[in-house]
This record gives sequence, C-alpha cells and structure tokens, in this order.
Amino acid sequence: MSVDLVALKQVVQAAYDEHHAAPGGENASYIPYLANVPSNLSALAVVTADGDIVTAGDSDYRFAIESISKVCTLALALDDIGPDAVQEKIGADPTGLPFNSVIALELHHDKPLSPLVNAGAMATVSVVEATSIDDRWRRILDMQSRLAGAQLELSDDVNQSEQTTNFHNRAIAWLLYSADAMYCDPMEACDVYTRQCSTLISTVQLATIGATLAAKGMNPITKVKALAAEHTRFVLAEMTMEGMYGRSGDWAYTVGLPAKSGVGGGILTVVPGVMGIAAFSPPLDETGNSVRGQLMAAAVAQALGYNLYSG
Ligand code: DON
Repeated sequence: MSVDLVALKQVVQAAYDEHHAAPGGENASYIPYLANVPSNLSALAVVTADGDIVTAGDSDYRFAIESISKVCTLALALDDIGPDAVQEKIGADPTGLPFNSVIALELHHDKPLSPLVNAGAMATVSVVEATSIDDRWRRILDMQSRLAGAQLELSDDVNQSEQTTNFHNRAIAWLLYSADAMYCDPMEACDVYTRQCSTLISTVQLATIGATLAAKGMNPITKVKALAAEHTRFVLAEMTMEGMYGRSGDWAYTVGLPAKSGVGGGILTVVPGVMGIAAFSPPLDETGNSVRGQLMAAAVAQALGYNLYSG
C-alpha cells in the first residue's frame, strides 16, 4: 500500500509538536547510564514499506535499544529453530507481570511465556545457533543491523553500566538453567543479552526495523532480506501479546498495532504491509514504556487510521 507523503509529513510533524514535551514519567534509574540521558530529547520517525522516510525532532540521536533488541533476537531464533520450537521452549503469551519478574517464572512452571520479557529473552539468546560466545554475539548484532539497515554498534558505556548492575538478570538466568529452560551456558546467555540491550540506535533506524517487519522481512532501505517472510507474523504476534508489558492490552485496545518498548525510551510500532513508526523520549511510565513515545506513535497511527482491529 503506498502512502501519501505530503499527508504523512503533516501527521508526523503534528504528532511531534503536540506530544514531544508532554509531562510525566522518569528516566530509568536502575541502569546508571540511562538515568543521565537528557530527559528533554524527543523524536518521531516513520519509514514506509516502500522506503520513504519522514522524521521530526532528534531523530538521529542514538539511544540504548534495550528491550527492543528482544524483537531482533526473536527474529533470529525463529529463523534458527522455527516457530514451533520457539513457542514450545519459550512461549507466546503475556505474563501479566513486570518485564523482569521472577514470580512470573514461578507461576508458570519455569516457562518464560514470552521472548519479550527478560527471562524469555535470555532463553531466546540461548537457542540461537552459535559456536562460541563471540559467534552468538556477532550473529545477534548482525540481525539487529540487517533489520535496522545500518551497522549498529555496542556502546561500551551502556554495556559497562549494565554488566556491572545486572545481578537480577543473572539470577533469572540461573533459575532458567535449574529448570532445564536455558539452552547454553546461563552466564553466556546473560552476557550476550546484556550486550544486545547495549547497542545504540537512532529513531530512524528503529523505524527501519519496523518497516522491515512491515515488508515481510525485506529491508526497504537496503533491499537486504533480514529474516524469512513467513516468520514476520510470529514476531508481530509476540509484540502484540507482550511488547508493551503491563500495557500491552491497553495498547491493543486503543491503538491496535504490534509494538515494542525499551527502557532507553524507544517505542517501535508496526503497521503490517505499510510502515514502521518509531518514537523516542527517555521518561518512562511505571511499566517501563516511554510516556511521550507512546503518545507520539499512537497519534500517528490514529491520524492515519491504522488499527488492525478496525479493518
Ligand atoms: O534487562 C534489562 O532490564 C534491560 N537491559 C532492558 C529492559 C527493558 O528495556 C524493558 N523495557 N521496557
């Protein structure tokens, strides 16, 4: 479906103007690096499935990808072990609990339920086919870069900040291991998961990930095939179920599109077949989703009339 670019530019600018300085929320503080990112940064970007790019605000500013990286590793795992094994080993349901919940594991007999919570994301890292920790990391970074249409890089500052404070995730990794739900060395999975959260990405690159998922795995900017066409629907279904954590149901109810947030302040939304919409601003709500990012992305979708449930 081709998009009216003049109308799209107006919609993106209007959504940015209305919401880029909205009040409320706070930077994530449990990762020291994130607490110090300027809270007033805001950006909005759309990349269409035809490769057109529309932006507003600080759209080239590179921020920590954080949990949005879980989408990329899920895409790789789907290609490596297939959708049935992902569903069986990790799951495709919401947990109904915070993204780093240990109780969720206890309640669900040690099955993570979703590749988009921390437990499921580390299990997803562990099923990626790899010959060494470096190979595992390289394959995940390559997938992020293919989806984003740019060579993404690890931020040593973010990685250092997370590797020295990620004790809760290490505990989750060992719990999974004790339940036979971890498929490589648990500390290797936690280390690589922490690195995948520590790459930097701009809002335009994030929207390109969305556009690639919208275009059934073909990156519309680079024309490189990032993942198998038949696997994009599984990524989008997982995003719908758990991408916005405790607000995933509210997001489906009000916006009606698959989405994924990160505690770095990024939000990615996909209109299948049409476009990726990405927004960024550091202050988060209590579930870990960017306050302004949600408002900006939702405003674009609503103004253009995109909602999977309204036809
Ligand atoms: O593992 C963590 O807690 C972070 N590296 C990522 C969490 C995250 O982004 C949750 N998203 N809203």
